[in-house]
Amino acid sequence: MVRPRHSWIIASPRRDQKQTAYHILVAGSEAMLKAGKGDLWNSGKIASDQTAHVVYTGKPLQSRMRCFWKVRVWDGDGRPSAWSDPATWTMGLIEEKDWRAEWIGYDAPVEAAKKAMAESDTPDGPVLPPPRYLRKDFDLGKPIRRATLYATALGIYEVRVNGHRVGDDYFTPGWTDYNTRVYYHTYDATDLLREGGNAIGAVLADGWYAGHLGWKSNSREHYGDKIRLRAQLEVEYADGSTRIIATDPTWKAAIGPLIEADFFMGETHDARREMTGWDAPGFEDSAWTAVDLASQVDPMVQAHPGVPVREFAEIKPVSMTEPQEGRFVFDMGQNFAGFVRLNVTAPNGEKIVMRFAERLNPDGTIYTTNLRRARATDTYICRGEGEEIWQPRFTFHGFQYVEVTGYPGRPGPDAITGIALSSKTPIVGSFKCSDEMANQLYSNIRWTQWANFIDIPTDCPQRDERMGWTGDAQVYIRTATYNANVAAFFTKWLVDLEDAQSAEGGFPDVAPRKIATDVGTAAWADAGVICPWTIYEVYGDKRVLERHYESMARWIAYCTNNSEGLLRPDKGYGDWLSIQADTPKDVLATAYFAYSTKLMARCAEVLGKTDDAARHHELFERIKAAFNKAWVHDDGRIEGETQTVYVLALAFDLLPEAVRPLAAEHLLENIQERDGHLSTGFIGTKNLMGVLNRIGRADVAYALFHNDTFPSWGFSIRHGATSIWERWDGWTPDKGFQDPGMNSFAHYSFGAVAQWMFQTIAGIDSDGAGFKRIIIHPRPGGRLHAAKASYHSIRGPIATEWKLQNGDYLLDVEIPANTTAIVIIPAAGPNVVTESGWPAGEAEGVRFLRMDQDEAVYEIGSGSYRFFSRGAESLMPFVNKAKRN
Ligand code: BGC
Repeated sequence: MVRPRHSWIIASPRRDQKQTAYHILVAGSEAMLKAGKGDLWNSGKIASDQTAHVVYTGKPLQSRMRCFWKVRVWDGDGRPSAWSDPATWTMGLIEEKDWRAEWIGYDAPVEAAKKAMAESDTPDGPVLPPPRYLRKDFDLGKPIRRATLYATALGIYEVRVNGHRVGDDYFTPGWTDYNTRVYYHTYDATDLLREGGNAIGAVLADGWYAGHLGWKSNSREHYGDKIRLRAQLEVEYADGSTRIIATDPTWKAAIGPLIEADFFMGETHDARREMTGWDAPGFEDSAWTAVDLASQVDPMVQAHPGVPVREFAEIKPVSMTEPQEGRFVFDMGQNFAGFVRLNVTAPNGEKIVMRFAERLNPDGTIYTTNLRRARATDTYICRGEGEEIWQPRFTFHGFQYVEVTGYPGRPGPDAITGIALSSKTPIVGSFKCSDEMANQLYSNIRWTQWANFIDIPTDCPQRDERMGWTGDAQVYIRTATYNANVAAFFTKWLVDLEDAQSAEGGFPDVAPRKIATDVGTAAWADAGVICPWTIYEVYGDKRVLERHYESMARWIAYCTNNSEGLLRPDKGYGDWLSIQADTPKDVLATAYFAYSTKLMARCAEVLGKTDDAARHHELFERIKAAFNKAWVHDDGRIEGETQTVYVLALAFDLLPEAVRPLAAEHLLENIQERDGHLSTGFIGTKNLMGVLNRIGRADVAYALFHNDTFPSWGFSIRHGATSIWERWDGWTPDKGFQDPGMNSFAHYSFGAVAQWMFQTIAGIDSDGAGFKRIIIHPRPGGRLHAAKASYHSIRGPIATEWKLQNGDYLLDVEIPANTTAIVIIPAAGPNVVTESGWPAGEAEGVRFLRMDQDEAVYEIGSGSYRFFSRGAESLMPFVNKAKRN
C-alpha cells in the first residue's frame, strides 16, 4: 500500500514556540475538506512535536485519486492554530494494469543511419539517426472537466498537444537502469484540450537510452537502439465519463526538421523542413508511416521520485570577440550547463554553427580538447522568413564560451542568450562574507552543483562522460544539502545506486551502471551507505534508511568477505587527484570500510535493530584494531604519511585516544612542510577542514581557505574560475592546461569545502538528525570580519549573521518554531554577553548552560535573537588580524 508522508513548517513571531500536538485531515474533495471532513483520513489530535514525514494511515489510496489536506497544530500553551491553507496531491498510476498505452516508435531511420555510417569515410563523425515525430488526431465530443497526461519513454521525449508543449521539463523520463525500471511523469493537460478536434504529438530522441554515453568511440545504444514512447492522455468529461487516448498502432510516425539530437554531440535543426501544424488537429499526415511496436526491454514503470530538469536562469553574454574572421566568440561570464537560444535573421539555407567550450586558447579561440569526443555543437539552418528564434531541446553542454560561425554580419549582444538547466532542486542556502574570494568560491560551488545535478549527480557536464560517479557524489552530498533541498533528487538516485549493486553486494563506481562497470571500489562504492545516511541526517528521513537497509548491509558483508584480516585490498582510485601525495589504497579502503560499518551500526540503531547495531559496532571495533595494528605506529605516524591518511583516521575515529594528538601533529607538520598547502584529492579534501576544526586548529583551516597559491581553492579563482575545477592544476601559468584527457572545469568534488563554510564560518549545523536540535557556532577566523548565511531546513529557516566591531562580537540568530539551538559565543564570562540589550542569561527564550573555556554556551528556543559579546575578538584564536581585509 502507498503511504504518502506529510510535512509542514510552523512559523511564529513568539520566542520559544513549540508544537505539542497536531491534527491532519485528508479529504477526497475540496468541498469535503472545507467542511472540515477528513473522509480519507482524520488523524484526530495527536500529541506530538513531529512536523516532518508524518505517515498517512487513512483509507487505502487508489490510482488517480485527488487528495486534499490540511493540518493544525497546538502550541506550547496548548492553544490550537488555525487550519493551514489546503494543499493537494494526486495519486499516480499505482498498478501496472493502469497502463493501457503501448510502447511505440519508428525504427526505419535507425537502419538508414547505420547504413550511412557504415558507408561513411569519417567514422569519427557519427551519422546519428534523427529524432522521431509521432502523432495522432482525436475528437472529444463533449465538454471536458480534466485531462491528465502520463508519459514515459525509452529515450527522451517532448509531448505536444494542440500546438503546445506539455510541461516545462527536459530530458524526461530521466536516466535509470532501463532494464529494471523507467519513470513516468504526470502533467495536467486540461487547458490544452477542447471540445471537438484535438491532436497529440511527441518528439522522441535518443537520450541516455540510445545516445552517446561515456568516453569510448561511438559509444552509443547502451540499452537498445529502438527508442520508444509510452503515453496516455486521460480525459474526464464534464458528465463524469472518461476516455483514454493512448499510444497504440493508430499513431503515425515521421522524421522532421530535427536532424540530430544527442547529449554529447549536440543538436541540428533544419528549419526549412519544419512541418507547421504537425502537432495540431487536421494536419495532413497521409505521408506519415505506421509506428513500430514493442520494446527491447521490459522495465517496471513507476512515478518519477526525483526532481525534473528545468530552465532556471537566462544568461546574457558579457563580451564578444572575433579571434578569426567570421568566428565570433561570446563570453557568457559564467560556466554553466545548458545551451543558448539563437536569435537570427538570415536568408534561407544559412547555416549557423554554435560550438561550446569552457575555456579559451591563448589566441582567443575556444579550447575544446578537454571535451574529448563530445562534439558539443548545435547547428541551425535558417528558413529565411524574418527573425528566427531557436533553442535545442534534447541536448546540453557545459560551457562558458560560445563560438558562432555562419552568422550574417556581426552578431549583436542579443544574438544568443544562455539558458541554464538543472534538476530544479529548491535553493535553500545563501552565504556571504567580508571576503570577496570566499564569495566567488561560494558562487563557483553553487554553479557547479547546478551544472552537474541533471537527473543524476554527474561528475561533469561537458566532456564525453557525464556519469553518476559514486565517489564524487558521496564526498559532495552534505555540501549539496546546504545549497538546495536535494531530498527528492537523492531519493531518486539512491534507487539507481541500489539497482546497480552487484549480486555479491558491491556498490558500483557509477550509477546507473554503464561504461565504468566495476563494483566495490573503496570510497566510491561506500556512497551506498554514506548517501542514505546523509539524507537521513539532514532531513530526518527514516524511510530512506528502511528502503536501502538490506542493500547497505549487503555492502558491509561484501567488504567483510573481500578483506583479509579485515584489511581491505583495493585497486581503485585512491585519493583521486591529490597533489604528490599517494595515499596507500588499502589504508584508504580499510578506513572507509570502518566508516561505513559505523554508519551501518547507527542506521540499525535508528531503525531499532538492536542486534544488528551491536554486531556492526563490534565489527567496527575489530576493523579499527586491524587498522591500527597494520598501519599506525606508536609515534602516531600512519602508513603513507599523507594528509589524507591522517584526515581519514581522525575523521572516522579510528585511533586510540592517546594516538590522536600525535596523528594530528603529523597532519599539521605535513601542511607546514608544504608551505601551508593542502595536498588532498577528492577523498581527503572532504574531511580535511572538519578535522582541522576538531583538533582545534581552525586557524590552519582558514589559512588553507584563504590561500591563492597552488594548490588551493583560491588559485583557480585568481585565474578567473567561475566554477570548481576537477583538478587543483586544471590550468597553471607555467604549464597551461592540464592533460586534456581528463580536465574538466566543472567538477564539484573540491567544492565540498562549502560544508565547512556553513558549519564553521556561518556556524549552522544539525545536532542529531533533521535540524530538530540545531547548533549555532560560528568560529570567526582568518581575515574575515563578517559573515551572513541562511539555510532553509526541513523545519524552517535558520540564519546567522555576525560581525566583529571595535573588538566586540555581534551575532544575529534565527531558528524556526518547534526547534531549539545550542548557541556558542566567545566570551570572557557569561556576564559580558547580552541578548537584545539584556543580560543574555535572563533574556526570553535563552538559557545559559555553561562556560567552555572562552566560550559561553546557551540554549535557545525558536525565534530571532541578537547576541553581543563585549571584547570577544581578543578571545578568538583563529582570527588573523594582520591579514584582515
Ligand atoms: C571522473 C571522476 C571520477 C573518476 C574516478 C573520472 O573520470 O570524472 O569524477 O570519480 O573518474 O576515478
